[in-house]
Amino acid sequence: MSWRRRLSDLETVVGFVPTMGALHEGHLSLVYQALEQNEVVVVSIFVNPTQFNNLDDLETYPRTLEADVTLLQTLSTDRIVVFAPTAHDLYDGTPKSKSWDFGSVSRVMEGAFRTGHFDGVGTVLQLLFEAVNPMKSYFGEKDYQQLQIVKQLTAQLGQNNEIIGCSIYREPSGLAMSSRNQRLTDVQKSQAPLIYRVLTFIKDHISSMSWSDLVLWAEEQFESDLGWRLEYLTLADAHSLESKDHYVETEPLRVFIAVHLGCVRLIDNLDLN
Ligand code: PAJ
Repeated sequence: MSWRRRLSDLETVVGFVPTMGALHEGHLSLVYQALEQNEVVVVSIFVNPTQFNNLDDLETYPRTLEADVTLLQTLSTDRIVVFAPTAHDLYDGTPKSKSWDFGSVSRVMEGAFRTGHFDGVGTVLQLLFEAVNPMKSYFGEKDYQQLQIVKQLTAQLGQNNEIIGCSIYREPSGLAMSSRNQRLTDVQKSQAPLIYRVLTFIKDHISSMSWSDLVLWAEEQFESDLGWRLEYLTLADAHSLESKDHYVETEPLRVFIAVHLGCVRLIDNLDLN
């Protein structure tokens, strides 16, 4: 295929930022970091059907390719290559997931609640990495579990592709930027910063309150008639993602949350050390 040859022919230091588009400042912070460390940055924009476990979520996922390209041009007009394949081209036919073994890291949280999600992520990233052949690829800690899985994926693929984790970019209110925020109503947007307030409360009280009391407190915050539904709130080891039931100051710990606000599912996480 012509794009395969064109992309891998780039004889420069190529950094890669895979995205599903509907770009926001969180994505741009990854592109910005990639531009600082590479001559050319490939940004892929592809809403990957195989990683959605919910058809409604796939169909309503925002698609704004023209606006995305305009936004990227504000960062650079000559060092960014946008790669926006069709599903048929990228998958060379009907999109289909491979089955991966990423071990226990893939079985908790997003892996437990979104069946097949990480198989789809692994499958599309293998195809994208093969097309782009990057030296460095940039992923946000917003999807912290995905970042751990991508590190395993590149190790399994034996590729010389350094995976770089980038910190979470937030609205001034603390709400983590996300393409799904576009689907929130104005009222929901004003409610959504509660997620970050809960995470920071946990961080501030993790050494003085028990984890079970913190969970009870958090459940109360989301227990309202305002359309919240808490899916999981997990304290976990930052590397293995093994869940913990108490805080140990010397262990690298993170708190993870997935919550529905109306029909929009939002995730976030915070480093507790
Ligand atoms: P998408 O949700 O578009 O995110 C693309 C990249 O941007 C991911 O690495 C994600 O963690 C990062 N990102 C999103 N919001 C961020 C924020 N507020 N701060 C920092 N980084 C943020 O993640 C995917 O797409 C897909 O699963 C993909 C990897 C492209 C495979 O299809």
